[in-house]
Amino acid sequence: MTNDGIATAALGEGGPRVGVQGLGCMGMSFAYGPVDADASRATLERALELGVTLYDTADVYGAGENERFLAPFFKAHRDEVVVATKFALAIPPDDPTRRIVRNDAPYVREAVEASLKRLDVDVIDLYYMHRRDVNVPIEETVGTMAELVREGKVRQLGLSEVTADELRAAHAVHPIAAVQSEWSLFSRDIEARVVPAARELGVTLVPYSPLGRGFLTGSFTDADQDLTADDFRRRMPRFTGENAAANAALLDPVRTVAEAHGASLGQIALAWVHQRAAVHGLPVVPIPGTRKPARVEENTAATRLTLTEGELALLEPIAGKVAGTRYADMAFTSAGRE
Ligand SMILES: NC(=O)c1ccc[n+]([C@@H]2O[C@H](COP(=O)([O-])OP(=O)(O)OC[C@H]3O[C@@H](n4cnc5c(N)ncnc54)[C@H](OP(=O)(O)O)[C@@H]3O)[C@@H](O)[C@H]2O)c1
Repeated sequence: MTNDGIATAALGEGGPRVGVQGLGCMGMSFAYGPVDADASRATLERALELGVTLYDTADVYGAGENERFLAPFFKAHRDEVVVATKFALAIPPDDPTRRIVRNDAPYVREAVEASLKRLDVDVIDLYYMHRRDVNVPIEETVGTMAELVREGKVRQLGLSEVTADELRAAHAVHPIAAVQSEWSLFSRDIEARVVPAARELGVTLVPYSPLGRGFLTGSFTDADQDLTADDFRRRMPRFTGENAAANAALLDPVRTVAEAHGASLGQIALAWVHQRAAVHGLPVVPIPGTRKPARVEENTAATRLTLTEGELALLEPIAGKVAGTRYADMAFTSAGRE
């Protein structure tokens, strides 16, 4: 497979076109084991050469460190990149190890100013509410976010892990360009209600963890052996104990399809997301995360793979058999509130 630059997709109705695959930058500073700044910088540059334009971060990744790390790259390529960040997971002053969800107007305003400063940009291209605080009406939060658009601090609005009803209520206040939620061969809960609502409203889906946090690449069998002590995945139900072994066994059909295409397992997982979105009839921009230039080449090449109906049928039962929930506490996900 060659890499000649990827296709594009619209980010929200009438929104800018972005490379049809974005780049998740979280792991460059946090969550998935040791970081390598030089390799991450090379990955960012390689991604851009390949047509990746949507770069995903959040204020909470490394407690601001990820936004700061990305700032020089964004400055060097400001007109070529779409900068996406998120607010809502606040660090309480009395305990920096904890996170609380905040969607109230004063917090949104405080968060956007802090992100603008760390990112060293005049405007954030896509600003997401990362998690839903059910104590604040979503209309109020999106109302504040809409003010940020009018004030020129933010260009487009996004929501992460919202239910279909929350998306509709938010969209009635201000157009939502993108919903970012987990969507992969392992995590298909959003197909029931969120994806149809997004299609109806003209919202682009930005699937996060499209590689199942790396599991779908076939690299993991046992969290104890494969992950360093500080790796976030050690606390995730699908990566631990008997669940990890059971889930590794589910990859056999992915391996079969990969062999037929001379592709990697991860490429099949990414191609599947694109084809599922086509079935649902809505634009999709998955944001696989990597810190390695060779992997961004591999991942973007997957946008040119087409799976047959027979292959899709072979992959269809996988999600229904996955052992363990996406998160230990599902209350913070759309599926936990639908
Ligand atoms: N909205 C939310 O709540 C939310 C939640 C989670 C993530 N996100 C966003 O979504 C992005 C992507 O999700 P994710 O990083 O959680 O999961 P992911 O993209 O499913 O998987 C990332 C993992 O896969 C590995 N990987 C990537 N390409 C690979 C390849 N070709 N071969 C083998 N391994 C490969 C990466 O390792 P290396 O880095 O070492 O290559 C990393 O460990 C994040 O970076 C973040 O921006 C958002």
